[in-house]
Amino acid sequence: MPPSSFKIQFADFLIIGSGIAGLRASLELASAGTVFIINKDSGRESNSAYAQGGIAAAINPLDTPKSHIEDTLKAGKGLCNRSSVKILVEEGVQRVRELIDWKTHFDRKGNKLLFTQEAAHSKKRILRAKGDATGDEIIKSLLLKVASNPNIEILENHFTLDLYLENGVCKGAWVLFDGFPKIILSKSVILATGGAGQIYLRTTNPLIATGDGIAMAYRQGAVLEDMEFVQFHPTALCLPHVPPFLLSEAMRGEGGLLKNLHGEAFMKRYHPEAELAPRDLVSRAIWTEMEKTGSGCVYLDMTATQPSLLRKRFPTIYKTCLSYGIDITRDLIPACPSAHFMMGGVQTDLNGMTGIKGLYVAGEAACSEVHGANRLASNSLLEGLVFGARAGRHALAFSGKNKFVTFDRNNIDRQFKRFVKKPPLTGRELDRMVLACKKIMWELVGIIRNEKGLKEACYQLKKLNDSLKNSFLNRKAMETKNMLTIALLISKAALSRKESLGAHSRTDYPHSPSQQKQHSYSQI
Ligand code: SIN
Repeated sequence: MPPSSFKIQFADFLIIGSGIAGLRASLELASAGTVFIINKDSGRESNSAYAQGGIAAAINPLDTPKSHIEDTLKAGKGLCNRSSVKILVEEGVQRVRELIDWKTHFDRKGNKLLFTQEAAHSKKRILRAKGDATGDEIIKSLLLKVASNPNIEILENHFTLDLYLENGVCKGAWVLFDGFPKIILSKSVILATGGAGQIYLRTTNPLIATGDGIAMAYRQGAVLEDMEFVQFHPTALCLPHVPPFLLSEAMRGEGGLLKNLHGEAFMKRYHPEAELAPRDLVSRAIWTEMEKTGSGCVYLDMTATQPSLLRKRFPTIYKTCLSYGIDITRDLIPACPSAHFMMGGVQTDLNGMTGIKGLYVAGEAACSEVHGANRLASNSLLEGLVFGARAGRHALAFSGKNKFVTFDRNNIDRQFKRFVKKPPLTGRELDRMVLACKKIMWELVGIIRNEKGLKEACYQLKKLNDSLKNSFLNRKAMETKNMLTIALLISKAALSRKESLGAHSRTDYPHSPSQQKQHSYSQI
């Protein structure tokens, strides 16, 4: 097929992304027609699959939904939507029980579920699986459930170039598969593409986390909300030439101590809860200690915890660190904060609905105001599960009764013509742009920010972004464009928010004076 033409495929429903939100959404839709779930990599690749710590759910008899709601609101620093949080926690209980019915094996003692405590939770409410591989276990069980449904098909290696809209209604997406373009037409679309950690030099996110879904929704006119709130996980492995592998929050829950270059446990100086203080605070404390001591990392000390417990409780972390020559039962683990999660994203209502008809967003790509200015640990898998199911149900109500996928062929042809076949830059030049973006974000739009740095970041990123204005039939060019778009949107939002709140910390505005917290809406 010559590259000037394209294939057309049909599905009743199209879901972009196969993490927890996308998979869970598909199960709501399959009774009403065919569902395509597309992933730019393998069907197993998503942020969700790498989640270690767990999933928070108020199902421990010693816990209550009220307490989980209060902890979530407190972490969110006044920027959460109470209704959204209530839904997350209350429906979360049902959704997690359903996972158990679908053979997700959470860790147990005998036949009793085990609950862990993590930072800023007032109760033991985190369920985990295989010690530190909760995301992997949940995704495996959802994939099995999906595989048993003949109406759902996962299309791998399908990179989404852009959404397809007709008269303001989202009716599918332009996709690149095997180097060739195609359009998948559907009655509605659910974006579940996750976050954009890859715009930072250091991130716990996998390589696919380039913010594609958020950027393409923005290009079509969707509203983006609270983009400046990027959560940095306090502890990722910090070794030269080694990816910043996540060292779960739960390690501090099991007695881990943070020590600086001089071997001093410093967290008590920053917060009475010390290692179990809220995540944003721990990240900033680590950053401050690194600057004070002129060191590129701090150390996580697990040596007071029994070696056999460590090996059993954190098998993946134990093995991974050992493969890099670090025995976590004996050695100090070099650690440094890394970009981890976006609280902001595409503005949605409580059903995942966006301002664009037919377009739903769920999971990390969405902003339903459930996390506010700072996400409570282990609430992200729960968000994907609860709001993925809601988006699925609502997409079904919106378009499930339409008999056919309708389309306007002329409009499709017109839209295809706007794609430019070749990007103006070589692969190597695009790589250089990505690296420049990562450095700018890490140095100027990172854990601690100020006006001078943010202005410089906006200036530099705009220059880079302006050189990739078109849409290209090329994955690397589109990923680069998406990353630059998201980076610029975050930087602009961070520059505009003249206060420190949750994960957004400014040295020039260290306080948050307003009682009534305002949301932000980014534009380039
Ligand atoms: C972790 O295991 O620390 C990650 C959990 C989360 O981000 O909620």
